[in-house]
Amino acid sequence: MSARQDGPPPAGDTGAGIGAGAGGADPDATHFGFRTVPTGQKAEKVAEVFDSVASRYDVMNDLMSAGLHRAWKAFTVRHAALRPGMKVLDIAGGTGDLARAFAQRVGPEGEVWLTDINGSMLGVGRDRLLDEGLVLPVAQCDAEALPFPDGRFDRVTVAFGLRNMTRKEAALREMYRVLAPGGKLLVLEFSKVWKPLAPAYDAYSFGVLPQLGRLVAGDADSYRYLAESIRMHPDQPSLGALMEAAGFGRVRWHNLTLGVVALHEGVRFS
Ligand SMILES: C[S@@+](CC[C@H](N)C(=O)[O-])C[C@H]1O[C@@H](n2cnc3c(N)ncnc32)[C@H](O)[C@@H]1O
Repeated sequence: MSARQDGPPPAGDTGAGIGAGAGGADPDATHFGFRTVPTGQKAEKVAEVFDSVASRYDVMNDLMSAGLHRAWKAFTVRHAALRPGMKVLDIAGGTGDLARAFAQRVGPEGEVWLTDINGSMLGVGRDRLLDEGLVLPVAQCDAEALPFPDGRFDRVTVAFGLRNMTRKEAALREMYRVLAPGGKLLVLEFSKVWKPLAPAYDAYSFGVLPQLGRLVAGDADSYRYLAESIRMHPDQPSLGALMEAAGFGRVRWHNLTLGVVALHEGVRFS
């Protein structure tokens, strides 16, 4: 079955380009925002971004999105269709918004793992959950080489994380591998915005965001990277195709806030 969307199509090209994980020709080069970097250096540069923003990450999310990230995550949680007892892996889980919501739904007989490659982000997340009385298994790991056995989870989620990964195809294959047959992957990510909104969105992303980052987090560059990395990420159909190539079936997506964000879903059938 081919990928499909459930809303009006955003206009524009794929945004996918050179390098490993981006569908291009040169396996030794990839994107870091608008820059081309050796593939082996991207993870280090992404780590610098999240080390820098971890302590102000949550407040910046609320400010940048005017609180909308909460609605996008709530939509994701609803689409996860969790039942008590389910096993869930949250990849690139950062400060734990999704993991916390999942834990409430799967109950004490279920299992929710909060994972991320970045120790600073994971530390903020773990402490936040502990402060709320939630003790979840936490693991620092790379989505491109997950330390879990095949077929371990009923749901795998990744919110605003895939864009930062060097080899998206490898990460998606890993997500497929650790899902049980019948399990579902949910990918929440910035996507290709509805074309008429693009000029205003660009002005906001490249004008306002870095300034907000400078004022609130003392770091304009990381928020410039955010704006650039969104432009370089595969658009809705391209990400759908990557998911199908990784083995997922019944791939579809929902455009949220006119395509600013999209939630992709795919099922592992066998
Ligand atoms: C924008 S944050 C998203 C955090 C959280 N999921 C949320 O929605 O608020 C992106 C996260 O992706 C993580 N990340 C980047 N590359 C990763 C990789 N290869 N494997 C696992 N996590 C990764 C970063 O460390 C960071 O915490």
